[in-house]
Amino acid sequence: MQKNIADILPVAGVVPVLVIEHPEDALPLAAALLEGGLSVLEITLRTEAALDAVERIAKHLPEVQIGTGTILNGDDLRRSTEAGASFVVSPGATERLLAAADDYDVPLLPGAASVSEVMRLFERGYRYQKFFPAQAAGGTPMLKSIAGPLAEVRFCPTGGISPDNAASYLTLGNVICVGGSWMASSALVREKNWAEITRLSRQAVALKP
Ligand code: 3PG
Repeated sequence: MQKNIADILPVAGVVPVLVIEHPEDALPLAAALLEGGLSVLEITLRTEAALDAVERIAKHLPEVQIGTGTILNGDDLRRSTEAGASFVVSPGATERLLAAADDYDVPLLPGAASVSEVMRLFERGYRYQKFFPAQAAGGTPMLKSIAGPLAEVRFCPTGGISPDNAASYLTLGNVICVGGSWMASSALVREKNWAEITRLSRQAVALKP
């Protein structure tokens, strides 16, 4: 059963998906996103620095809601909750992952890319799902097509979202928010270009219909 993730996800907003290589980048990066108006972040567990980054932001920027992404198993869930994550995001869903999620209070946003995957998650009580990889899995035409038969499910499409197509997702009735890396790409973080990240974040906030 899904815990209360609807209270965390920004309605018709954008969730930056982050890859943090160096823990010392965590606070200036989160501060730059926050200044641009983005206060719900997803830090992917794809780097050694990820959990350290989560801990730093949770401790010093309590107004930020941090999720961890790329959750693949129960161990990732445990490490995320210990670091202070408010929610966790998985690219897909397996039986073992869903069983592990039942043991934790932290809400899971599980990934789905097909009608049957969406149905299976909904059967287990997951009304909010990550639609991943959004563009490759059918984009807005897919989401429009399943809005009728799967009317109660709400999605956070992620994967291939950009400033050019984000608004077309955000106007759909079954989309609660979108995720994307464009406003804080690895290149911008590597350059420590916080000003540009704030500018792109403001632009992302303005996409809200
Ligand atoms: C990812 O897998 O890193 C996220 O889904 C973000 O995808 P994007 O880089 O296409 O926005």
